[in-house]
Formats: sequence, structure tokens, C-alpha cells
Amino acid sequence: MGGAAAHASVAAVAVRPGVPDSLHRTTLSLQEPGSDEVLVETIRVGVCGTDREIMRGEFGTPPTGSAALVLGHEVLGRIVATGAEVQGLRPGALVSATVRRPDGCPACQAGQPDMCLWREYTERGIAGAHGFMVERFVEQERFLVPIPAEIEAIGVLTEPLTVVEKAVRQADLIQRRLAYGWAPRTAVVLGAGPIGLLGTMLLRSRGVEVVTVARTPAPNRAADLVAACGARYVSSREQSVFELGASSDRIDLILESTGASIAAFEAMQILGTNGVLVLLSLTGGDHTADVPTDRINRELVAGNKTVVGSVNAGFIDFATAVDTLGRFERLWPGLTARLITTRISITDDIAPIVAKSGDEVKMVIEFDR
Ligand code: BGC
Repeated sequence: MGGAAAHASVAAVAVRPGVPDSLHRTTLSLQEPGSDEVLVETIRVGVCGTDREIMRGEFGTPPTGSAALVLGHEVLGRIVATGAEVQGLRPGALVSATVRRPDGCPACQAGQPDMCLWREYTERGIAGAHGFMVERFVEQERFLVPIPAEIEAIGVLTEPLTVVEKAVRQADLIQRRLAYGWAPRTAVVLGAGPIGLLGTMLLRSRGVEVVTVARTPAPNRAADLVAACGARYVSSREQSVFELGASSDRIDLILESTGASIAAFEAMQILGTNGVLVLLSLTGGDHTADVPTDRINRELVAGNKTVVGSVNAGFIDFATAVDTLGRFERLWPGLTARLITTRISITDDIAPIVAKSGDEVKMVIEFDR
């Protein structure tokens, strides 16, 4: 590794966690990569609901010894240089990165930091570790994921796709309990943000009949994307989840990604016999509600139904997400790129643009150079 990048100073976007609207520019000093590390230059970074929660001061912790946290955990970058022991990655190649960094718990030691038992992990751009909204970063080879050049335009969606890859993998694993063999026939996706839309596409790519539910009546961008991959879009303002449940065939699988916890309890009430409900919303608030507990409990028990929470993603989900993005391109050329509805430049005044959210699906920050 040449000394060119040693201790260079790089521009980054950070917040002071816990302080609303504290998004600001900062600089980080970049260390030369160690022998098992890789220097990556950032191409683009996605902005997600978690980032917005952190910006509102509701979530996120800075690295030890720092008041600021550099944001960003959905990254596409290009390798600039590699340490002496790096075997599998070469300068010029595209990469994404996993988010969570393990602690010493049994799950992390077994290679499953996404199932961390002690919950003392760090997450880049979220909890205790700087993220990728920075011109260049250094990362260990084992946390980087090669992205084929053919999917460069959509490679920034790898990380959000891993969240639903894990969700569906959890459902598949759980359903190995069924001797008759399980493949979901009918699924409902609650929420049509990036996670809901990628979940819809993933299930459609497996031939599942999908209904995707979101608040805003069609026409809108999300409804168009849902229709374009052959799923049905329902506005919950026009048809309640309960009406949808009553008029549907047995619902084998539900992915909940609305960000509203009440949706989880509604979903429990429409899930079909032997079905799986995967909860994906990390709800920050303190909401309470009256729910029909006897009815929900009775139906879950009598129908052998499963409710499972799922967070983050495993290494395996990154590998499958990369394949899945290629499959999406073959099935629906150009469709996945339409999820990226807003592009802003790292040189823009980012805070006000990010703060107001319109009809966008996925906003990305371009590190144009
Ligand atoms: C990320 C996950 C992370 C979670 C909780 C999500 O936005 O995609 O990787 O585990 O936030 O911090």
C-alpha cells in the first residue's frame, strides 16, 4: 500500500446523536489500511428511515470518544487500495459493506452478528461506529461484499435488500417445521417504502402472489412500482387491512415494514393458518393501543401461526441480495433503478433536502468527483 492516502483528511456528513437537526459537515482523518484492510472510495450512499430517525435525534450513538456520528450504512464504493494480506478483492472493484460489527457473544463468534446475543455490537453509521457518508473509508476485507459491475447502478440497494432477504430466509427456516413442504403462495407486504418495495419484488421474483399495502391511494410512485412487478397495491385508506384479510385467500406470509407498531397487531389478525408474520419495523416511539388479545392469542395458537422479529442481515443475505439484484434486472429490466427517486450531491446543502420527504422512494447521496 503506497503512502498516498496515509492520514489524509476526508470530508464526511455527521450528526450529534440525540440532538435533533444536528446534521453537519465534518472531516475525518483517514488511516492507511492495515494488512487485512481495504481503502474504498465512496460512490453513493442511500438514506433510509433509520438515518432519518438518527437525524431527528431519536436513535444512534457515536463512537467512543466522539460527540459526532458519521451517518450512512447503505454504501456502494470502489476499491482504491488493499492491504498485503487481502486475497479476494482488487483495486477498481465495486463493493458494498455489511453494517453490524460483532461483539464476543456466541452468535457473533459463530458468524451471525445479525443474531447477536449480548447486543453489544456496533453498527456502522448507526451505533458506536462511523458510517459511510464519507469520501473514503477503510474496512476489513471480511466486511466487504463484492458487487458485480453489471449492477453498479443499483448496487447501493444491496443493504436494504438484505433486510428482506433475511426476513424471507427466516420464514423459510421456520417453515421447515411443515412436513408437507412450504412455499408461500399468497403474501401481504405492509408498507411501500424501500423495504416494502424490495420485499414485494423479492417475493414476486419467487412467483408469490403479493398484495402490498400502504396509506397513500394510487396513483403514486410506489403503487406504480408494485404494479410493474406484478403485485397488487392497496391503499389502507380505501381498504382496511381487515377487509383485505377477509377478502383474501389464506395469507401464508406477511412482511411488516410500515414503521407503525399497530400494523403488527393488525397483521396478526389476518395471518393464515400455519403462516409466518415477519416484523421489520424498529419503532422508536412509545405508543400503546387496545387490541383484542383473546382473539389474537386464540388464533395464533389454534392456527399454528408464527410471529418473528428480524433485524439487520447475515453475510449470506448480502451474497443472495447481490444475486437477487441481477435476477430483478433480468425479470424487470430497469425497474429496480426506479426505486432511486432522488439524487443529491455531497456538495449540496443536504440537511434541508433530507428533512423534507416527498413522494420519494429512495434518496441517495452521490459522491461525484
Ligand atoms: C439497518 C440494519 C440495522 C438496523 C438497526 C437498519 O436501518 O438496515 O442493518 O441493524 O437499522 O440499527
